[in-house]
Amino acid sequence: MAGATDHLIIPSMAKTRTYFVCRQCGAMHTKWMGKCTDCDAWDSLEQTFSAADTHRPKVLSAGATALIDTDLPALPVSQIPDMQVPRIATGLVEFDRVIGGGVVPGAAILLGGDPGIGKSTLLLQVGQHLAAQSLRVLYVSSEESAPQTGLRAGRLGASSDNLFIYAQTNVDKIGEQVQKLRPHLCIVDSVQMIYQESNASPPGSVSQLKDCCTNLVYLAKASGTAVCLVGHVTKRGMLAGPKLIEHIVDTVLYFEGDSYHDHRIVRCIKNRFGNTLEVGLFRMTGSGLEVVDDAAALLVQSGAGSAAGSIVTACLQGSRVLPIEIQALTADSALGSARRKATGCDPNRMAMMIAVLEKHSGMRFLDKDVFVNAVGGIKISDPAVDAAVAMAIAGSHARRGLTPGSVVVGEVGLLGEFRPVASLAQRISEICRLGYQHLITGPIHSSADKLAMNSVKGKLSIHICKNIDQALACFS
Ligand code: TYD
Ligand code: MG
Repeated sequence: MAGATDHLIIPSMAKTRTYFVCRQCGAMHTKWMGKCTDCDAWDSLEQTFSAADTHRPKVLSAGATALIDTDLPALPVSQIPDMQVPRIATGLVEFDRVIGGGVVPGAAILLGGDPGIGKSTLLLQVGQHLAAQSLRVLYVSSEESAPQTGLRAGRLGASSDNLFIYAQTNVDKIGEQVQKLRPHLCIVDSVQMIYQESNASPPGSVSQLKDCCTNLVYLAKASGTAVCLVGHVTKRGMLAGPKLIEHIVDTVLYFEGDSYHDHRIVRCIKNRFGNTLEVGLFRMTGSGLEVVDDAAALLVQSGAGSAAGSIVTACLQGSRVLPIEIQALTADSALGSARRKATGCDPNRMAMMIAVLEKHSGMRFLDKDVFVNAVGGIKISDPAVDAAVAMAIAGSHARRGLTPGSVVVGEVGLLGEFRPVASLAQRISEICRLGYQHLITGPIHSSADKLAMNSVKGKLSIHICKNIDQALACFS
């Protein structure tokens, strides 16, 4: 990019010393132990041969576009120069939505996900969209050869001359290539396979990961090139390597989904340039990932919400409302202790809903296994899903369902009362737009919510319930 420096990074000399780093939390120990004393993880210490601080790269001088100007003295906040950097919208609407509207120049983004979920496909498509806007993109492939990546790019229809493919695993050479090409975005796929020559540890080890990531983040900050790193996740769903990679970068995205289904979700868990509430929805097709325009059709099957144990709710995910089907199953427990399993929603809130149903509605779940699932792989943290969870459990237990076309929205308190939910007006208008006819919710207090309620008169009948008992009376 114009204004970037010619010599960005010079790794300082390494001083060889042996120490042990925890693979889980990144804590450093001088001697080996079976258990990390910082995070209590067993068998997670890994021998490393160089002190971390000797590997910090030196940024010689930052160019005009550098985001970190280390020569600037401490200044009062009012005198800090305005650094309004325009975002680069990739054009992949759902990707832009998750990262807060577009890629910020000089930002470091980490994309994690299971192997085979579609990380390389997504980033190649992001690259292709940017290249089509005459922006330069460098795609560094450290796992596949250039012809292999080229073949995949061909399948995805990425043929722009602004998209450069570079098969490389040496981080210093990647830095040189970035200086030469000055791309707007540099994608490193994957960070676990690259290494720094001055570090004796193998690629993928904690110390290599830390060094390579730090190097690339410095490179991004000094050159203004946004860097997108791909990271694999472990069996437990964590990004392989220490949490400290997540601390180094600006944005952490997780690419989730089920390889047996075609839909994929990109979730943001950290974002220095936007909120972390948005999710991006994609569908994997034979020619790459497609943006999902109609989330309702993807997440809620037709006829959902009327069978016993199935309830449709309207969930707030960032700035949009998504209809989500909550399914529950209660079954006689064969074991001594009843099982409780929640997928996609908070298990603690599910336990609370079971207790509320037992206390206020006279149902008994002591000898029942209870399973609750938010269909579609979306993870819900919105408390407005409480009533739907409670009604799905009660519906399964009593073998009763709601009238077709019903939606349940409400936060339930410990006394079984319905509490006000956020953005009810937005939920009402979206439910109406999607063609649902009945809404079961709590008392409406705010004038915006009342206005929304009046505006859907005749199209959506709203049943206002004071508590969970009144909501349960809506079962047909
Ligand atoms: P990939 O992007 O290689 O995953 P990751 O980088 O996360 O390991 O995607 C691999 C899967 O995606 C593979 O199982 C095939 C599937 N796929 C499609 O269905 N359509 C396509 O157009 C492409 C490129 C991949
Ligand atoms: Mg890949």
